[in-house]
Amino acid sequence: MTKHDIVLSVDKLRKTFVKPFTGKKVEAVRGVSFEVRRGDIFGFLGPNGAGKTTTIKMLTGLIFPTSGRATILGQDVPSSEAMGKVGFLPENPYVYPYLTPREFVSMCGRLNGMGGKHLAREVERVIERVGIAYAMDRRVGALSKGMLQRTGFAAAIVHSPELLILDEPMSGLDPVGRKEVRDLIVEEARLGRTVFFSSHILSDVELLCDHVTILRRGEVVAGGAMKDLLGAGVRRSEVTLIDVPEAALAELSPLAHSAQRHGNSLVLDVQGDDAVKIVLERALAAGIRVESLVPKRETLEDIFVRKAL
Ligand SMILES: Nc1ncnc2c1ncn2[C@@H]1O[C@H](COP(=O)(O)OP(=O)(O)O)[C@@H](O)[C@H]1O
Ligand SMILES: [Mg+2]
Repeated sequence: MTKHDIVLSVDKLRKTFVKPFTGKKVEAVRGVSFEVRRGDIFGFLGPNGAGKTTTIKMLTGLIFPTSGRATILGQDVPSSEAMGKVGFLPENPYVYPYLTPREFVSMCGRLNGMGGKHLAREVERVIERVGIAYAMDRRVGALSKGMLQRTGFAAAIVHSPELLILDEPMSGLDPVGRKEVRDLIVEEARLGRTVFFSSHILSDVELLCDHVTILRRGEVVAGGAMKDLLGAGVRRSEVTLIDVPEAALAELSPLAHSAQRHGNSLVLDVQGDDAVKIVLERALAAGIRVESLVPKRETLEDIFVRKAL
């Protein structure tokens, strides 16, 4: 892996806010480190108040870290080289209500050094891409929350950034709106962009991400490739057998973590692949019908509850 495969590198970032008047310190981010690779969809998770937005503000140059460092494609944040490669969708984007999506997205393009026919073409292209071409020239104040979110999304991608940073892009949207934003994220990643987004909606993250970092009270408590995280939990399987005679039940149930009868079926909760093999062998040898074998993996929610709360 070369240096340029790392699009975003965060090294021991720390942010301590000092409250006005009281002088009380709030350690919002406490030594957060992680790396985001090119082409990844990277989820930044944590309950409310964990420090996600504070970290994102440091990555987008809105606030300065108390200590630590972040680089984007090898350039220090917030240098203009680094920031020019970033598209940013803030949490609850604000758009002046008397502008139209076309005007707002054009303005964002101009702020990124675009202009002329190229800008006009790109503005139309990205607005079509996010699915609000029909509302391109309506006042933003008249748009729904979902359409406003998409206007913000279009503005974030108008200058074809290499890295997209999205703060809670799915929050406040209904399930359809959430799916549409998820689809946009996947499409952007397919086009070769790297996507870094924060969320507390775990199902969205589980569906989307290659890598995640879980934050709790300003610190990283878990992270890595999604498949490693989900694969690391103890493997359990649910084995369902039909018409198990009492004698066989006495033999099988000590092999299981739990055994429950439902009508004529017996559901065994079995830990580990070896135990599953023995249960199946004995059941088959006794002529018992095996209805199903369902492996149960740990979900992201299980990990989140175990680590982040
Ligand atoms: N400007 C600020 N001044 C003081 N405290 C702040 C400020 N911004 C955020 N915080 C505090 O920092 C912590 C992390 O907040 P935030 O980064 O918004 O979390 P998240 O985005 O994960 O919900 C919270 O305790 C919050 O109250
Ligand atoms: Mg936040």
